[in-house]
Parts: sequence; C-alpha cells; structure tokens
Amino acid sequence: MEPIRVGLLGLGVVGGGTFKVLARNAEEIARRAGRRIVVTKVSARDLTRAKERVGNDAEVVTDPFEIVRDPSIDIVVELIGGTGIARDLVLEALAQGKHVVTANKALLAKHGNEIFALASSKGLMVSFEAAVAGGIPIIKAIREGLTANRIEWVAGIINGTTNFILSEMRDRGLPFADVLKEAQALGYAEADPTFDVEGVDAAHKLTLLASIAFGIPVQFDRAHIEGISQLSAVDIKYAEELGYRIKLLGITKRRADGIELRVHPTLVPSKRLIANVEGAMNAVLVKGDAVGDTLYYGKGAGEEPTASAVVADLVDVTRLHTADPEHRVPHLAFQPDSISDAPILSIDDVSTSYYLRVEVQDAPGVLADLARILADASISIGSMIQKPSADAPPRAEIIFLTHEAVERNVNSAIALIEALPTVSSKVTRLRLENLG
Ligand code: NDP
Ligand code: HSE
Repeated sequence: MEPIRVGLLGLGVVGGGTFKVLARNAEEIARRAGRRIVVTKVSARDLTRAKERVGNDAEVVTDPFEIVRDPSIDIVVELIGGTGIARDLVLEALAQGKHVVTANKALLAKHGNEIFALASSKGLMVSFEAAVAGGIPIIKAIREGLTANRIEWVAGIINGTTNFILSEMRDRGLPFADVLKEAQALGYAEADPTFDVEGVDAAHKLTLLASIAFGIPVQFDRAHIEGISQLSAVDIKYAEELGYRIKLLGITKRRADGIELRVHPTLVPSKRLIANVEGAMNAVLVKGDAVGDTLYYGKGAGEEPTASAVVADLVDVTRLHTADPEHRVPHLAFQPDSISDAPILSIDDVSTSYYLRVEVQDAPGVLADLARILADASISIGSMIQKPSADAPPRAEIIFLTHEAVERNVNSAIALIEALPTVSSKVTRLRLENLG
C-alpha cells in the first residue's frame, strides 16, 4: 500500500522528536498502522538547521501554508505552538480536507470548539494525545478505555516544568529561577515559561480533560488558575511536617450543580502515590463510578515522550482515515449532539479542605478568637500546629488544617481574621485534597 504522507509544521523539541521516532521505528510503526507513515514536507523558520536535522528525507520549506495547501499531504502535524499562526494553519488544513494531529493545548483550550466543529462538519479527525500529559496516553484512556464509566473526577500533575521546579527546590534546595532555567534547557518549558509557572499550561490541559471526562464544551476562560510563583518555602516545609506534599494539581470534579475546574498548589497526603511523583513526571488520577480510582504515570514533557503521543495519533489517523466519520471516536469522547451544558462552578462554590497559616501575637485568647471565627463560618478544624518565634513581644505562626469547607466561607473567615488587631500577616491559604 502507498505510504500515508505527513506534513510537519515546526521542527523544534517535539517536531524534531517526532521526526526522529518516526524514522527510527518506521518498520514497527508500519506493522501497526498497516502502511508506512512518511514525513514528506517539514516547515521551519531556520532552513539550515532544519536541513541538518532531516537530511534528504523530507523537503524543508519556510512557509507552513505551503504544506497545508499541498494536495499530496494527507495529515498535517502542527507542532509550532501558540494561538496565532497555529490556529490559522489548523483551520486552513481542515478547510483543505486534511486530518490534523497537534500537541498544542493552548490552541485547543482556547479555540477547540471552533476547530472540532469545523473538523466534524468536514468528517475529519483532530487528534491531540500529546497535548495533555506528554507521553501518557491519558486522552485515549479516558475517551476510549473508560467509556463505560460515569467519570466523577480527574486530578493530576499535568505540568512537568512546575513539578520539576517543586521537586528540585525541595530536594536540592535550589532557587526557583535556577531550576526554571534548567527546565527550559531540558526542553520542558513552554515558549513563554510564565504559562508553566502561573498554572496556565496546566489549565489548558485540564480544560481538555474536563471536556472528554464530562462531555462539556471546552471552557478555558472559566477555569480558576493559580501557579507556584507565590508559593513560599516555609509552607512546603510545614506541609511536610504535617504529612503532606505540595503539588500543582489540575482538578476537575462533577458535582450536582456543575463542574469544578481549577489549577492550584495543593497539599496531598505524602502517602499517596501522586504525592511522590517527582521531576518532570506527570500523573493523572481518574475516578470512574465503575472502575474506581485509576492512576496514569509517565513522562509529561520532552522530545521523545511527547513524540510518542504524536506518533500514536498518526497511527490512529492512518488506521481510521478511510472509516466512516460517524463511526470514529468523537473528538471530545461524547457525540457532538450530546455535549452537556453543565456550568463550570465559580471558585467561591468549590468545596475542599484548607491549609491556613497566620502570624499572630502569642497571647491569651488569640487562638480562641481564630477558632471562633472559623466556627462561625461553618469551618471545622481538623488539626492545628503552633510555631513560636523568638520575637519580643512574642509572636507565633498558627497553621490550621480544616475539614471540607466552602471557599466562600473560607474567604469570609480570612477577611475577619486579617482584621483582628492581634494578627500581623495576611493569611496564607492553600487547598488540600485527600484524593481518597
Ligand atoms: P519549540 O519552540 O521547540 O518548536 C517550535 C517550532 O515551531 C520551531 O521549529 C519553530 O521554528 C517553529 N515556529 C515557531 N513560530 C513559528 C512561526 N511563527 N512560523 C513558523 N514556524 C514557527 O516548541 P516545542 O516543540 O516545545 O512545542 C511545540 C508544541 O508542542 C507546542 O504547542 C507545545 O505546547 C507542545 N508541547 C510541548 C511539549 C514539550 O515537552 N516541549 C510537550 C507537549 C506539548 P524555529 O525553531 O526555526 O524558530
Ligand atoms: N511545558 C509543558 C510542561 C510541556 O512542562 O508540562 C508539556 O506539555
């Protein structure tokens, strides 16, 4: 059979890895796909560097539109990134009748509804396994492996850069900026690393996970996002003392009144497997009503792990491109006419446990005042520690772990606590998930 012809847009970390893996494992991949998958054209801005990478095996061009409009290309692989030219290229590729494979979570989180609608109307596939959790086949697992289940929640470490930073800071005591530079050198970070550090990249991925888990439209703008830039070393230390690790988690939960969609640093019990996921590794927990808890673990970023997912999509598209579009797996796991309008809940309505740290005067009645404010806001204290200081007059840091409470109530309590004359700091508030 004739090989299937692929046009590769972008030859950076992931594009280069994809080219390499496709070439190295060509025979094995052909045995699986039923025919050879050949990259015939590549686009890159730096022609000389690109030619060094691909040799004479593929034509190299500087204009990516030349590829998406080339009638000989069957599948376009978008590995440029961002929401600018990448969006134009993907829409044009679909308009030209080509299937698309992309690792671009930013693009799909922002423009996924438009892209999937166009693809459906044209009977085309848009595959994006590499967009979430790098090499872990989490899209396939949720979209296909867990189809029997009503998914209850998904929680994961889905940004390798921030997990790498948190691990290195804790284990090697290295400063944040140094570790970020290392993550960039290793090819983990986004072109704009604030996307990693501020939780935006994780929110892009979580948005896609929520859509395929619950059958809702892609709604990145409704996600609550906090990154790790404000996280202080002292909270990492106190969390450890209390038996927790702090991880940047993406969490999406189905509730009776809507869907929680949130990314933030989270205390997780140290004994949980996910709390021990280190470096650029990712892990995703999925709870289904039939299967119970499932855990998926692997490399979440980098050249070949991400290429592994891109190539898996290429094999899928090669196997399925002659199939009747009605009988393919829907882009977002659910049939387009069955997508639900369940609302994304405001962070104020989220219900979880909390870590609260506050600096107070070490004097009679201060702790009682704090406890009274929490009780009045229907917040139950699970445990508490007090860290005295050597200051004069004496001061102390008090750390509460609460039982599950509603965020709106926690906000009211924090405002009252910060107004107390005996309190001399802002309250540090972190969320805690038992994931049990
Ligand atoms: P790189 O920056 O390494 O590569 C981007 C490529 O696109 C380069 O070849 C670059 O050309 C080309 N490019 C950039 N801008 C333009 C433009 N305006 N016009 C034409 N070509 C352009 O990025 P990555 O490979 O790291 O990431 C690619 C995609 O994969 C992104 O969507 C990213 O989010 C996603 N991803 C990345 C992962 C990773 O571990 N790195 C993991 C999972 C997903 P040149 O080099 O000549 O500038
Ligand atoms: N910047 C991303 C990360 C790449 O660090 O996880 C993988 O999507």
